[in-house]
Amino acid sequence: MGYLFFTLILVLLATIAYAAPAPAATTTRPPTGKATISTIAVDNPSVDTDGSGCRSGSVGVAFSSDNTYLTIIFDDFQAAIGPKAGDYKKRAFCRVNVTMIVPGWAFDVSSVDFRGYVNLAKGTNASIVSRWKWIDLKSGLDMKGKGNIQKKISGPFEDDFLLHKDGELADNEDSICSKVSAKFQLSLSASLDASSTTVSGLVKGDSVDAAFGQLLNLNWKKCS
Ligand SMILES: *[C@@H]1O[C@H](CO)[C@@H](O)[C@H](O)[C@H]1NC(C)=O
Ligand SMILES: *[C@@H]1O[C@H](CO)[C@@H](O)[C@H](O)[C@H]1NC(C)=O
Repeated sequence: MGYLFFTLILVLLATIAYAAPAPAATTTRPPTGKATISTIAVDNPSVDTDGSGCRSGSVGVAFSSDNTYLTIIFDDFQAAIGPKAGDYKKRAFCRVNVTMIVPGWAFDVSSVDFRGYVNLAKGTNASIVSRWKWIDLKSGLDMKGKGNIQKKISGPFEDDFLLHKDGELADNEDSICSKVSAKFQLSLSASLDASSTTVSGLVKGDSVDAAFGQLLNLNWKKCS
């Protein structure tokens, strides 16, 4: 995907973010330009014959220019079931490890937006699940502050959909700040079920740019 195209998607997603509720007035965030992504590693876990993964290089991650949200673009995310499924599999799973450089700052995810396209005939269902967590770089152990979001959709349904979900900010300040130098791991999965072999269902990127987008709204804290 070209850089220009990627930028365009970020702009499109930015429009969504502006529609989201404003963060609490007390939220502080790193000065513009202080938050950067250093590596994006797409995991290619072995998936069974009913599933497909994500190609390396097919996931884009970027902070918004004001650092209020993190955009994750899956260029290669689709699942389908039934006679119209073609080459698609009934499950899709992508996982990405992200390391970032944000000296002296850490964040929690306050809410999440998804953007994609779903077309389900009567008798088919889709389940879309995203999970995220922080992994300590030194020990490799999971840290506090995991999150997850799940959306179930039953056919008949056809639309570009946008899902907004508030997170749970149960962390105390110490555990947020322990994430300053941690690795962020996020997974996204879609799975489809059908009541018979004659009905079709599809989950993929939306009709605007063919990419599946996920936007994490961030709650920053200054640590140090
Ligand atoms: C992602 O992180 C996990 C947990 O540390 C690790 O097992 C996996 O190998 C990493 N994947 C890549 C592609 O770096
Ligand atoms: C789809 O979801 C509905 C509601 O949860 C359930 O009753 C039905 O059995 C599901 N169908 C399939 C094919 O999984």
